[in-house]
Amino acid sequence: MEKHSNINKSFHIQTFGCQMNEHDSETLAGMLEEIGYVENKDKKEAGVAIINTCSVRENADKRFFGILGQLKKVKEDRPDVVVAVCGCMMQQQHIIDTLKEKYPWVDLIFGTHNIHEFPRLLNNVLNERSKVVDIWENGGDIIEGLPAKRMYPFKAFVNIMYGCNNFCTYCIVPFTRGRERSRHPNEIVNEVTELVASGVKEITLLGQNVNSYGNGSDFPVDFADLIYLLNDVEGLERIRFMTSHPKDLSDKLIQAYRDCVKLCNYIHLPVQSGSSEILKRMNRKYTKEDYLLLIKKLKETVPAIAISTDIIVGFPGETEVDFGETLDLVNLVQFDSAFTFLYSIRKGTPAEKYTEQVPEAVKHERFNRLVDLLNEISAKKNKACEGLVLPVLVEGSSKTNAKTLTGRTESGKVTNFKGTPDLVGQIVPVKITEGKTFNLFGEVLP
Ligand code: 5AD
Ligand code: SF4
Repeated sequence: MEKHSNINKSFHIQTFGCQMNEHDSETLAGMLEEIGYVENKDKKEAGVAIINTCSVRENADKRFFGILGQLKKVKEDRPDVVVAVCGCMMQQQHIIDTLKEKYPWVDLIFGTHNIHEFPRLLNNVLNERSKVVDIWENGGDIIEGLPAKRMYPFKAFVNIMYGCNNFCTYCIVPFTRGRERSRHPNEIVNEVTELVASGVKEITLLGQNVNSYGNGSDFPVDFADLIYLLNDVEGLERIRFMTSHPKDLSDKLIQAYRDCVKLCNYIHLPVQSGSSEILKRMNRKYTKEDYLLLIKKLKETVPAIAISTDIIVGFPGETEVDFGETLDLVNLVQFDSAFTFLYSIRKGTPAEKYTEQVPEAVKHERFNRLVDLLNEISAKKNKACEGLVLPVLVEGSSKTNAKTLTGRTESGKVTNFKGTPDLVGQIVPVKITEGKTFNLFGEVLP
């Protein structure tokens, strides 16, 4: 018998980090709604305040502790509020130690491997009014059938695998998300079929390295096969995926772009650096030339493909010559867009121990040069879209002007145009009238 029938059954979730984390938060919200909770936009008012953390770079760590400081005041005003923290940071012992020592008022701490246990853990906190800390070191079996409160009715994230086996030397993810485990293709196809039945038109398949989907599993389906299977789901219109590792991008997948009409002409292919020497020390297992060859194959097979990437600036030992290789690669590939990061030391990763850390000022100076070049290329590529008619999935109206709609082209470019809200959720033809650095502007065609 539950003792907490007249408690504040509202929740607020603050999410940091990647789409995997965003989707975990959708699952948390879905589970809370199943047990009668409603979302509360104000964390100061919510009965349960959750922070889903990211540990990929130091910034996210710092912001987490800042937000925790704010929640301390809420907890002092309303001791009944349940403060729960979860996500990648919780998979690191030094973070748990800090939380126990300096933030003893946090009620519930859980990790990335036991999200499905959240309702039970919450119940324990509420019933016992005591602190609960439950971190699993490894991911067990994949739990199917968890609910999700989806952010959009017409596009959805679908996890296809969990964890990462690659151990890039800068990266904390293999330590926080465990080893690779792939969902059974039937489960994925069923989930997508159900999503489509509920109105979803676009899916984004999620995994740290989707290209190694199926490795080590007992079913004979690889990532390209999965794309072919999903391309056959009736009513589905767009398939995207995130993220792929260049070392595992197969010719079969490149061929799938040609064969599968629903697979968007877009790929996010993190390169991290243009220097083969730095790539070696990052343990990326490809060279600058290997990457350029992949890009060549992709562009030959899919001439309209848009390519985005991730680049880390200032990895230990990066010289001006190495950085020049990155600028050269960017010039050769002509990325449509890129996420750029200053290298950030992560405790427990091999690169933490590398002695030749690049001074902050040098990192910043290189970073600015890189961003200027990337922006110049993005602007040029977007300008080249002027005059084209592109299908756009309308995602909503602009925050500042309700009559301005915003959506994305197949290539992932944000496009703004005038229109009525009834178009939200539809794929409409938009004639591009202006291409700027970060987005496109256009007119919807009748
Ligand atoms: N420092 C800076 N950037 C990092 N990334 C991962 N780890 C680090 C780090 N320690 C970047 C990589 C990755 C993206 C998600 O985050 O570019 O592709
Ligand atoms: Fe991190 Fe490398 Fe795995 Fe990506 S592939 S999650 S960068 S270890």
